[in-house]
Amino acid sequence: MHELPVDAYTSQEWFNLEQEHIFSKTWQFAGLVEDVANAGDYISVQAGLNNIFIVKGKDNRLRAFHNMCRHRGTQLLRAVGKGKKAITCPYHDWTYNLEGKLVSIPKKEEEFPDLCNKELHDCGLNLHEASVDIFKGMLFVHPEKDAPNIMEFFGEVEPYLGPHIPEELIEYQEKKDGAFYTKEINANWKIIVENYIDQYHLAHLHEDTLNMYDHAKAEFGWAGPHYYFFEPLVPEYLADVKNASPYPLMDKMPEDKMGAYVPWLFPNIGITESESAWNTFHAIPLAPDRTLVVIRSKTMNVSEWEYTKQYTKSMSSKVWQNIGNKGKYEGDASDPMASGNFMEEDVYACEQQQKSLSSPLFSVGAQAKNGEFAVRKFQSVVKEWVEKYRDND
Ligand code: FES
Repeated sequence: MHELPVDAYTSQEWFNLEQEHIFSKTWQFAGLVEDVANAGDYISVQAGLNNIFIVKGKDNRLRAFHNMCRHRGTQLLRAVGKGKKAITCPYHDWTYNLEGKLVSIPKKEEEFPDLCNKELHDCGLNLHEASVDIFKGMLFVHPEKDAPNIMEFFGEVEPYLGPHIPEELIEYQEKKDGAFYTKEINANWKIIVENYIDQYHLAHLHEDTLNMYDHAKAEFGWAGPHYYFFEPLVPEYLADVKNASPYPLMDKMPEDKMGAYVPWLFPNIGITESESAWNTFHAIPLAPDRTLVVIRSKTMNVSEWEYTKQYTKSMSSKVWQNIGNKGKYEGDASDPMASGNFMEEDVYACEQQQKSLSSPLFSVGAQAKNGEFAVRKFQSVVKEWVEKYRDND
C-alpha cells in the first residue's frame, strides 16, 4: 500500500499496535459540547485501550476520568446520561463524587481493616484522571492526565476549517427520527480515511452524486498530521442555492465562502462543513476489517416550519434536474452503486478494496500525483506514530 504493508489493513497485530500507539496517545473525539450541558451529565468513550468518561461537575467544569472502579476495575458509567449526583460502581457500590473522589464504601469499618485511616478521598483510591478539552464545539478526551495542549495538536489545521459555529447549530435528526447515522463497514479504518481524503475519486465514483461541488477547483493539503480540503459550489448550484439547498443556508456565510470544507483530523475524525450542514464523521476501528462510522449532523437553528419550507423548495428546484443524484450504475436502488447516495457508493468501494487485500495478486498500480497524494501522506503519518512510540516503549 506504498507506505504501509498490506498487513496493516488486515492483521490483528497491526490493529493492536494502532490501538496502543495511536488511539491511546492522541486526542479522541467523544461527542458534542451539548451532550454534557448540565451538572451531572456524562458521556463515555473508548480511546484506544482506555475507556474514559467526561462528566460536568457541580462547578460546571468538565472533567475526564478513566471509567474504571478503583476497587476491582468494573466499568462505572455506560454510554451517556444526565443529572448524576454521584458515581456509584454497580459491583459493590463504591461511590465517587463528580470530582472523581472516593466518598463512600459500604461496610468500610467491618470489611476493610487494611484501608488507610485517613478520609477515603485521601487513601489514594480516587479515579484516575484523564484530560478533556473542546475544539470547534466538539469534546475530545486524552487518556493522559497531563495531555499535550489540544491546540498544539489541532492548531495547524484550524485556519483551514469552515466559518461555521457548531455551537449555534442543532442536530437536525432531532427534528426527524432522533437517531445518529451509524454504519458498520467491512473495511479497515484506514481504507475509510483514505477514501475520505482521496480527491481523485470524487469526479469519478461520485460523478452523479456530488456534482454540486466543483472538484476541479478543490484546494487541499496537509497541516501537521491533519488534512484539509475545500471545494466551491458549481456556478449553476450557487446561482440558485437559496432555493436548491436542502436545508436552510448557514447565516453569516458569504457566498464566496460557500462550498464543502472536508478536513480529516488525525487519527479518526472527519468534519464535513457545507453551505447548509455541519457533520462529524467518526470512524471507530472495531477489528482489522471492521469499522463503525457514526455521523452526527447539525443545521441552522430554525423553526420546523422554516426547515420544511426549505426542504420543499429544494425538492422542486430545477437545479437538481441537471446535477441531481443519480446512481453510477443503472438498476435497483438497493444496489449501492445505483442508489444515487454518495455514502453508499463510498462504502461499496471501501468494502471491495478490503476484500481484494486478501488476494496474493493485490498491488497498488500507481497513485495520482495530486489527487491521491494525501493517501500516501496519511499512511506515512500512521507509520510514524506507530514506529515513534513502538521504538520508545
Ligand atoms: Fe467497583 Fe467493587 S469493582 S465496587
